[in-house]
Amino acid sequence: MSSSTFILLLLSFQLFSSISQAVVPASQTFTYVNEGDFGDYIVEYDANYRALPPFNNPFQLCFYNTTPNAFTLALRMGTVRSESLMRWVWEANRGNPVRENATLTFGTDGNLVLADADGRVVWQTNTANKGVVGFQVLPTGNMVLHDGKGNYLWQSFDSPTDTLLVGQTLRAGGPNKLVSRLSEVSNVDGPYNTDEGFLYYLTFEYFTTNPTSSSNRNMALSRYNNTLSYLRLGIDGNLRFYTYNPNVQGVAWELVYTFLDRDSMEGECQLPGRCGNFGLCEDSQCVACPTPNGLSGWSKDCDVKKVASCKASDFGYYKLGGVDHFMIKYTRGDQTKQSDCESKCTKDCKCMGYFYHTDNSRCWIAYDLKTLTRVGNSTHLAYIKTPNK
Ligand SMILES: *[C@@H]1O[C@H](CO)[C@@H](O)[C@H](O)[C@H]1NC(C)=O
Ligand SMILES: *[C@@H]1O[C@H](CO)[C@@H](O)[C@H](O)[C@H]1NC(C)=O
Ligand SMILES: *[C@@H]1O[C@H](CO)[C@@H](O)[C@H](O)[C@H]1NC(C)=O
Repeated sequence: MSSSTFILLLLSFQLFSSISQAVVPASQTFTYVNEGDFGDYIVEYDANYRALPPFNNPFQLCFYNTTPNAFTLALRMGTVRSESLMRWVWEANRGNPVRENATLTFGTDGNLVLADADGRVVWQTNTANKGVVGFQVLPTGNMVLHDGKGNYLWQSFDSPTDTLLVGQTLRAGGPNKLVSRLSEVSNVDGPYNTDEGFLYYLTFEYFTTNPTSSSNRNMALSRYNNTLSYLRLGIDGNLRFYTYNPNVQGVAWELVYTFLDRDSMEGECQLPGRCGNFGLCEDSQCVACPTPNGLSGWSKDCDVKKVASCKASDFGYYKLGGVDHFMIKYTRGDQTKQSDCESKCTKDCKCMGYFYHTDNSRCWIAYDLKTLTRVGNSTHLAYIKTPNK
């Protein structure tokens, strides 16, 4: 071995050892076991929960479950004193619950690890030996792992599920969407997600990257310091903004904004689930069920006929005039000939139909239909896939 190689090895060894010297002091490490009695207070989803020591008023780390022995590690917002429903504003392991005796461990290596009772790692921050020296729950509800200089090497604000707290952002190249939960009981991903928006106090700003556009909505001003607020993509696909006033008893939460409601610019027709699996909506009302034979009276059971085959000869399309898909307002669609739009849908087994604006040759392929919106413009067409028999 030449001496220069030796020096290089020595140097890299020293470099390595100086990084690994940044360890979490033993007094800061912890292992919390998911065991013991459940808490007494009323929390969202009618869950059972166990509060863990990490706490910064009004945020507390907990395990909660809505079905027996299937726990989510989550951050809860709310104080005991306000006597109001406490809400789950961040969670680690949606869709991948842990059981009794699961552990949350923060070791000297700086990794925060959620492991099931059998040791299976369910979730982790992947920050082992990266210079983490401490863990904190900040007053904003951001849970962070920081290095010796106070830089965040991991933060919960970078992994939202369905909720954004004040100061938390969605951005291209970073955390870029919210996904609703499936139901009150079932904490797995639901059908709705929002991409790339960000939040400042009571202004919700959102933009799209393709095409580039941006817009914002000023939400109602609340009567009090609204730093303790959150934006939630709900189970129904609607966005709602809540503020929290810990000094008000019983009604500490105020719903200050609903993205899609009767009084909003869009109206309820923009809510994907407003008229069930497949209904036509006009002025916030469900007015009809589209069928291959025309419109019939609306009921909540309206649905599309399933196309079981991917073979083009097994299905066709029926046309609806003066309707839009709920996504059309927020996306530009592709500029193509109608025949190309149709063949794109025909070749795509998952495509349930396509939407076409004849005045500007815009095409949208739809993977779900749900609520169609009645529009006054007869150049807005929908072609719904239907089995040939
Ligand atoms: C959890 O662990 C404790 C201690 O090892 C044990 O006594 C208990 O039975 C375990 N609980 C469950 C539900 O497995
Ligand atoms: C609002 O509340 C936050 C958190 O409690 C606090 O840091 C901030 O100073 C408050 N702002 C005002 C204007 O009182
Ligand atoms: C239909 O929409 C186009 C643009 O998409 C617009 O120029 C036209 O005025 C609309 N027609 C009606 C009747 O609203």
